[in-house]
Amino acid sequence: MENSLGKVFTITSFGESHGRCTGIIIDGCPAGLPINEEDIQREVDKRKPTSLIATTRAEEEKIEILSGTFNGHTTGAPIGLLVWNKDVDSSEYEKTRFLPRPGHADYTAFMKYGGFNDFRGGGRFSGRITAAFVMAGAIAKKLLNLIDVEILAHTTQIGGIEARPKGFDEIKVNIEKNPVRCADLKAAEAMSRAIEKAKEEGDSIGGVVEGIALNLPVGLGEPVFDTLDGELAKALFAIPAVKGVEFGSGFSAAGKRGSENNDPFTVRNDKIVTVTNNAGGILGGISNGMPVVVRVAVKPTSSIAKSQPTVNIKDMKNASLTVKGRHDVCIVPRAVAVVEAMMAVTLGDFAMRAGLIPRVIK
Ligand SMILES: Cc1cc2nc3c(=O)[nH]c(=O)nc-3n(C[C@H](O)[C@H](O)[C@H](O)COP(=O)(O)O)c2cc1C
Repeated sequence: MENSLGKVFTITSFGESHGRCTGIIIDGCPAGLPINEEDIQREVDKRKPTSLIATTRAEEEKIEILSGTFNGHTTGAPIGLLVWNKDVDSSEYEKTRFLPRPGHADYTAFMKYGGFNDFRGGGRFSGRITAAFVMAGAIAKKLLNLIDVEILAHTTQIGGIEARPKGFDEIKVNIEKNPVRCADLKAAEAMSRAIEKAKEEGDSIGGVVEGIALNLPVGLGEPVFDTLDGELAKALFAIPAVKGVEFGSGFSAAGKRGSENNDPFTVRNDKIVTVTNNAGGILGGISNGMPVVVRVAVKPTSSIAKSQPTVNIKDMKNASLTVKGRHDVCIVPRAVAVVEAMMAVTLGDFAMRAGLIPRVIK
């Protein structure tokens, strides 16, 4: 089950970067959910590279629904979704087959699978598989809409440039106005310049994506091993290049006092809420009704144009490698849609486990 996630609303990922396609099977989706290709395509398009980020791989990424829908609604059967890989150029990968890229999964994949792994374009470890995560996320978002749960992600840092915090509505509007999907428009310009600079220098940069889920009811998540934060972190760590996940005040909580970090309770509009949200909406692994806030650290892209030391795994000799191929200078803006998707898939599963969404939608 290594390629599957979830307990009731489950996803199974398949495909490789330079294989025929990349796709997802969703099992456990209720019958009667209105679905069309355009809804899913809209989400997948948000993950496409722009000329700023600059992988020159120009995939059309036209999604196809293979099964599980009929007359514009889900049927309750497994839903098969995919995009075909069309703009594939494996020539650079053939040349460097035995020279693992520092920072990429080439070495671990070779060792684990005895060289049988499809190494082209990173194969199974490519960011390309996340196109299918976004397809599943599009359907999970539709489910969550039924219980008014809204999910949004945005870029909060690129190359050390931090965005000033903004409110949910401003984030929603502003991220559509710039290629780095940042709500702070001034910071977004500086981030774009930082990406251009890294590109000119044959290097790469990383950053941080923040995900927010609104209107979750109190009570999602189980102690001890199926905590909401644990399961969200697992789903987010499935995104290649994610190296850290924190909720609410996260790592900064370690340096605070209890009196600063505790979120005092109060009653607002007949509802128990907290005055602050350092917990990021989760206490004891269970949603507390406040927005779930998670931040994801995305490392700088490992495939860079600068020369780097490596070894030839065939003859065990030191070597150097200059990655040619087609790569993103900064993965962060594309990861935004994927963070939303993995949050939606996980929260959709928890909502189904809790019986908040019926098996047939009428
Ligand atoms: C949307 C997306 C696009 C990516 N594009 C690239 C890329 O062009 N070049 C690259 O080296 N890594 C890229 N990655 C990251 C690698 O797949 C990842 O670093 C690698 O599999 C090693 O996994 P790890 O970084 O999680 O350890 C991308 C990741 C995502 C989510």
